[in-house]
Amino acid sequence: MEQDVLVAERRMLLDRLEEQPADALLALIALCDADPRPEKIDVGVGVYRDAAGNTPILRCIKAAEHILLQSQKTKAYLGSQGDAHFVELIKPIVFGDATAADDRIVGVQTPGGCGALRLGAELIAAADPDARIFVGQPTWPNHQPLIGRAGVNMVDHPYYDRDSREIRFDAMMEALRGARAGDLVLLHGSCHNPTGADLDLDQWRAIADLVSERGLIPFVDLAYQGLGNGLEADAAGTRLVVEAAEQALVAQSCDKNFGIYRERTGSLFVKGQNARIAALAFGNLLSLARTMWSMPPDHGAAAVRIVLSDPELRADWRVELDEMCRRIRTIRARLAAFDPRLEYIGRQNGMFSMLPLSPDAVLALRKSHGIYMAGSGRFNVVGLSDDGVERFAAAVTEHLPDV
Ligand SMILES: Cc1ncc(COP(=O)(O)O)c(C=O)c1O
Repeated sequence: MEQDVLVAERRMLLDRLEEQPADALLALIALCDADPRPEKIDVGVGVYRDAAGNTPILRCIKAAEHILLQSQKTKAYLGSQGDAHFVELIKPIVFGDATAADDRIVGVQTPGGCGALRLGAELIAAADPDARIFVGQPTWPNHQPLIGRAGVNMVDHPYYDRDSREIRFDAMMEALRGARAGDLVLLHGSCHNPTGADLDLDQWRAIADLVSERGLIPFVDLAYQGLGNGLEADAAGTRLVVEAAEQALVAQSCDKNFGIYRERTGSLFVKGQNARIAALAFGNLLSLARTMWSMPPDHGAAAVRIVLSDPELRADWRVELDEMCRRIRTIRARLAAFDPRLEYIGRQNGMFSMLPLSPDAVLALRKSHGIYMAGSGRFNVVGLSDDGVERFAAAVTEHLPDV
């Protein structure tokens, strides 16, 4: 009898869990995988694909992995900071060469850009349990779970109007003028917005001015540097707001621009108003990382470190990045030329755009044409193989409203 009670109590723990909805994007990938139609089109997941529809391993990464295999002497623990040399090499790519020795900016390696977002959110919540972050809508579905569930209050504001295909900049600025000193602003680095609509430099400058005037703290999600208009140009907006702010955070990813998605390679940088505050933040980052993943995975960061330390591999990486950009731009131009209602796609950067489609239209495209895209109408332009572009454009324009 006593034994039965104990068994019943033990059952109680996991039974109390709530059912969780499947991740929408991962569920979409599974649906697409299960679709037997050879002509199906997967524009849901955010990975680069070449003309044949493959996601290749970059030459520079293959070469670096070869070197790593030959030269690595130990796999002993590295510590919660991860690969410090990797972080040192990424810092000037994000913030500019002049920042290499700037001790107000500190960084740690993280498991991808998502790990960086979570670590940043944990740091914010540790500093202020009532912290608020302003987030433009629409945003990535995982910003809420990564940032909000760490305990940071998310305040939505308008960013983009799907029907007019324009950024709602005035409405965004009006909302940000309502922020208080110490509030955070989540900003999408170049090519990162799910709508494909990037802020231009004048808009970044206006946000930087507001950040400086009001004492706001930018938190930049920068996962696609180099996949728009080049490494420097793509970092320009991020640098403006970070320079303008006394304190800032940047979640960086190498998973897209080095094509090492599953290696989970990124970093979180934090700027303080002086070296003492930056060191305080750094100590907190180490202790928070220790409670979550203890130490980040090594392989991707080690491969990136080798690429960035070797002039030839580094140069080849730039060539491969440019090839990816060219393909993105070519597909954008073909879509834009297909129909005036797609013209805006040619003016955007990066892998994503958003089509003003109803959820019913998204479902109908899936059923009748095997086109898999997010319910919001977000799609990955390089999810299209060379021979799929016009077929995709013809199918989606059947459902598009007039401009
Ligand atoms: C919101 C957001 N930020 C950043 C990233 C960066 O990617 P990763 O975590 O794969 O490095 C992702 C990718 O899923 C993302 O969804």
